[in-house]
Amino acid sequence: MRSFAGRDILSLKEFERNEFFHVFDVAEKMEVIARGRKNVDMLKEKTLVTAFYQPSTRTRLAHEAAMHRLGGHVTGFSDAKMTRAGDWYQESIKDTVKMLEFYGDVVVMRHFQKGAPHEAAKWSSVPIINGGDGWGEHPTQILTDLYTVLREKGRIDGLKWLAVGDMRMRTMHSLGYALSQFDCPITFVSPAANALFPNSPDMCMPDEYKTDFKQYGLNFREADHVEQAIADADVILVEPVIQPDYTQARQEASKDKSLTPANYKITRELLVGKAKSDAILLHSLPRMDEIPLDVDITRWSRYWQEAFNGVVMRMTLLAMVLGAVE
Ligand code: CP
Repeated sequence: MRSFAGRDILSLKEFERNEFFHVFDVAEKMEVIARGRKNVDMLKEKTLVTAFYQPSTRTRLAHEAAMHRLGGHVTGFSDAKMTRAGDWYQESIKDTVKMLEFYGDVVVMRHFQKGAPHEAAKWSSVPIINGGDGWGEHPTQILTDLYTVLREKGRIDGLKWLAVGDMRMRTMHSLGYALSQFDCPITFVSPAANALFPNSPDMCMPDEYKTDFKQYGLNFREADHVEQAIADADVILVEPVIQPDYTQARQEASKDKSLTPANYKITRELLVGKAKSDAILLHSLPRMDEIPLDVDITRWSRYWQEAFNGVVMRMTLLAMVLGAVE
């Protein structure tokens, strides 16, 4: 197996099956530290740099919390407008990362441009972790989600997935690549163009990813309504269809946000009436109304466990790429 020490985490397209299981083995050890709410000194001589060109609650703070749990240090920015990359200069990724590599030992980057972390990795002497790039990928989130499935269901192979939401979303692309390494059929449910309101964009899985998924052997199909797939699903993963444009640095809230149509919504009634009794429901959050609040206390919801595992997975990846755990 390739070593993780010094490695960039840019895409799950690059992950091999045995590497997933190795990451999950290390995560189980890290979970003990996080569950005990302890801070250890594993990374006491290391610094994480956060380079966030787009808003984030979970990804940035989970990486920061993970670094603190492992005794490391954190510096960085969460608003690129206050850096030279976001002002008059529009400083390039190359020039920015040629600074950041001397400020710390690993960089986690979120960017509105697909491929920006890959560009950073070309120039950086320290590992780059992709914290979400435009409509590209979100590898650390899907590693978190697969680890949650493993912990909650005891296995990954043999489970049927239902993924609901905007398939331009970066999590969906990392998910497709990841599941191609497992025996996991998946149904994608998403709105085609104009399905939500006139001139709404096509939110079906983009052709470039479908082509890749076929080449990688992913067993997938597409459907129009969650009711066409929920009865068979062991894992239901939901993302919004009412959401901002992820290719923008930031979008202010509009007063006239639409409501999510029933096709893309997981309600308590649907779960009680149609879902398997032992299925689990994931959402990386933030949510709109696609999972109403009364679902939170049903036996299907696992998004708070997912949130906890988000810290565990970032502890794991930081420890591995920084060479503290082989
Ligand atoms: N799930 C996720 O990526 O959340 P943030 O946008 O808050 O980081």
